[in-house]
Amino acid sequence: MFANLSDAVSRQGNSQRLTIRHLGRMKAEGRKITMLTAYDYTFASIVDQAGVDVVLVGDSLGMVMLGYDSTLPVTMEDVLHHTRAVARGTQRALVVADMPFGSYQASVEDAMRNAARFLKEAQAHAIKLEGGQSVLPQVRALTAAGIPVMGHLGLTPQSVHQMGGYRVQGRSDAQAQQILQDARALEEAGAFGIVAECMPHELGSEMAKAVGIPVIGIGAGAGCDGQVLVLQDMLGLYKDISPRFVKRYADLHGATSIAIKSYVDEVRSGAFPTLEHSFTAST
Ligand code: KIV
Repeated sequence: MFANLSDAVSRQGNSQRLTIRHLGRMKAEGRKITMLTAYDYTFASIVDQAGVDVVLVGDSLGMVMLGYDSTLPVTMEDVLHHTRAVARGTQRALVVADMPFGSYQASVEDAMRNAARFLKEAQAHAIKLEGGQSVLPQVRALTAAGIPVMGHLGLTPQSVHQMGGYRVQGRSDAQAQQILQDARALEEAGAFGIVAECMPHELGSEMAKAVGIPVIGIGAGAGCDGQVLVLQDMLGLYKDISPRFVKRYADLHGATSIAIKSYVDEVRSGAFPTLEHSFTAST
């Protein structure tokens, strides 16, 4: 515990942890913000040590970690569990927890109660929620209560059935204008940043220019203030074809399969373990 408040303040000052103020400054200075998802301690540590600014415990964990075919079944308990592990694995990155479907849409009360759990019980530093006009009361209430909120516009996967599938958003002029209006409204309501998913790159750039808060793109072009990808996608952990906006920086599916097959072969043939991996009675 801190002996007194000034002790706590100076510790905070020395902390290497990024805050939403750092992200705002990065946008103002034209420095790109890096964000990746992570869902467990091991990968969160690697992501953090590699210098990523923001770690998102996305509700994509429903598909990536739990094998669902959408993010809709993800529960509060699922995201809390994974956020705790990620928070333990990071020292520098800002940890953002994704509010799952049904945890904030119905009322400001639901949003407050559930968002607070991420900060109190899982050591997240901020939450993310999807939508524009319809969630403004929630964004106002949360930020007034001291809970940093990140918005999410464009392709919002929790509305997959409403959108008629995972489709690029904002291609028509009317849709693009609505997205820009939502972005301005989220900023005005107090959001510290916005994820812009799957939209024409011109619209991603326009959004980043239209608001003073960072716009982090995923499939929204290079004009955004930063980029986010799902970690498993960019590491190539799946054999299947990934979406157009994903760049694979590694082939971990291939590398992992080769390693596991070698282990299976060596155990079966007796090549593993050797004396090198065994204990003796004497030492
Ligand atoms: O859930 C998630 O991983 C996300 C990112 C795709 C931004 O919302």
